[in-house]
Amino acid sequence: MLKVGVLVSGGGTNLQAIIDKIEDKKITNAMISVVISNNANAYALERARKHNIEAICLSPKCYETRDQFNEALLTTLKKYEVDLVVLAGFLVIIPECVIHEYENKIINIHPSLIPSFCGTGYYGLKVHEAVLERGVKVTGATVHFVDTGTDTGPIILQKAVEVKEDDTSKTLQQRVMEEAEWNILPEAIHLIANNKISVIGNKVKKS
Ligand code: GAR
Repeated sequence: MLKVGVLVSGGGTNLQAIIDKIEDKKITNAMISVVISNNANAYALERARKHNIEAICLSPKCYETRDQFNEALLTTLKKYEVDLVVLAGFLVIIPECVIHEYENKIINIHPSLIPSFCGTGYYGLKVHEAVLERGVKVTGATVHFVDTGTDTGPIILQKAVEVKEDDTSKTLQQRVMEEAEWNILPEAIHLIANNKISVIGNKVKKS
């Protein structure tokens, strides 16, 4: 059984999609061992607790130095015996010590088709604002492994979503979540939990 640690900062709709698909057995061989938020008020923590999942707040603000926070994050992941770290809207940079300890064992959901609209400064609604500003007709979401760059790791799954002429960043964000994120993030976890994913260089092979 793959033990998953989900890291969140906000509403937690992606976390909810994972919880629901584990309960519906669409994700097999996986369980969530802990949900960690850097924000004590994140509704995501509430969602976890409603399903009797351990939910804790770990914020850089609660530590004197960034190193101390980094160490606490790593210690917590180990305490909960996490095999796979899932970044589901986590807005804190993952420290190198965690990336090295969990090489190809951290995945992130990003709300665009990487390599478009990604990298430093592209997160949440800002991504969709940039998509509308550029006038692209198709956007989407990407699940990728996390390496030391920003949104540069091997791509696991992508799903395209149509941009409509009357979209606002909020309507577009909602459609990208519904049509892409809430499907491909759980699917990636299911594939990893069932040993269907291998990483060769910067490419992912699905079997
Ligand atoms: C999601 O749209 C996710 O793709 C995005 O934050 C949102 C979190 O929503 N992540 C990023 O922008 C990462 N660069 P949620 O808390 O409702 O799952």
